[in-house]
Amino acid sequence: MTMKRIGLLTSGGDAPGMNAAIRAVVRTAIYYGMEVYGIERGYAGLMDDEFVRLEMRSVSDIVHRGGTKLRTARCMEMFTKEGQQRAVDALERHGIDGLVVIGGDGSFRGAKALTEGYGIPTIGIPGTIDNDLEYTDYTLGFDTAVNTCIEVINKLRDTMNSHERISVVEVMGRHCGDIALYAGITSGAEIIIVPEIPYDMDDVVMRINRSRENGKHSNIIVVAEGVMSAEQFAKQLQEVTTYSVRSTNIGHIQRGGSPSMADRMLAAQFGNKAVRLLKDGIGNRVVGIHKNEIIDMDIIEAVSMKKKFNYELYETLQMISM
Ligand code: F6P
Repeated sequence: MTMKRIGLLTSGGDAPGMNAAIRAVVRTAIYYGMEVYGIERGYAGLMDDEFVRLEMRSVSDIVHRGGTKLRTARCMEMFTKEGQQRAVDALERHGIDGLVVIGGDGSFRGAKALTEGYGIPTIGIPGTIDNDLEYTDYTLGFDTAVNTCIEVINKLRDTMNSHERISVVEVMGRHCGDIALYAGITSGAEIIIVPEIPYDMDDVVMRINRSRENGKHSNIIVVAEGVMSAEQFAKQLQEVTTYSVRSTNIGHIQRGGSPSMADRMLAAQFGNKAVRLLKDGIGNRVVGIHKNEIIDMDIIEAVSMKKKFNYELYETLQMISM
């Protein structure tokens, strides 16, 4: 079946690169002679009929902007049969033949429901800073978020060094430790605390003391939000060390900002691939990147995969950050 009209929405937490992906979807669809309707506010807007026609120029001047032009929402109703039916009714009213959903795990579950339960061809583009989807090596927004964390940690290192302090920095990631792992390795943090590996405060203190004996004047500990807050960790640590401890939560700053080259490149490739699949009448897939190649996979299979932690990278950090 040739698709004439596709819908596009962003859902869940926003991520840098979502706008670049919107642009790639719209421009590719127009290239193939398809019409695109953007749906504002994710699944919530879909149920409330918030459709806007997207033309070539509607997506000008957004490739470099963080956030999402279509805005987004976390929509619990999409997990109910009634909500799903409202979404399907809206898609039918607007004559939408296929849908592109840019979002994370929860958004993909909504897409899976539309595909599995109602036969609507849907393609998922992984857009989340968390990098918590197993089937793809990287999600859109992760690289930019980690770069933002690195910038913050660089600044913290300056002042921690001057005062010979320990900085406990909290990063996001929900239940996944990837932001902490990648930001930790690439900023030279001595210790990372992630949900995937139980921590031992005696070991933390031992590593700090050893680094000081080796001539270090400060320490950076990156804590993933899935373990506890930086404030809580700093409090626990201050009880067992004489070095002065400070805590910082990077918070939503890591979700904003202009996307990095890596995220813009992923956005271009993911958006283009998603529309090419729909054009060929293929739905029910998610796109991703694996071993530097753009891939697509069955949506049901992709959402059922359990995210694995990269223990080798963790060991690398343990060996080189001291
Ligand atoms: O999924 C993206 C994310 O930023 C997570 O890392 C974090 O746990 C959550 O969203 C925060 O959600 P909110 O923006 O609703 O506070």
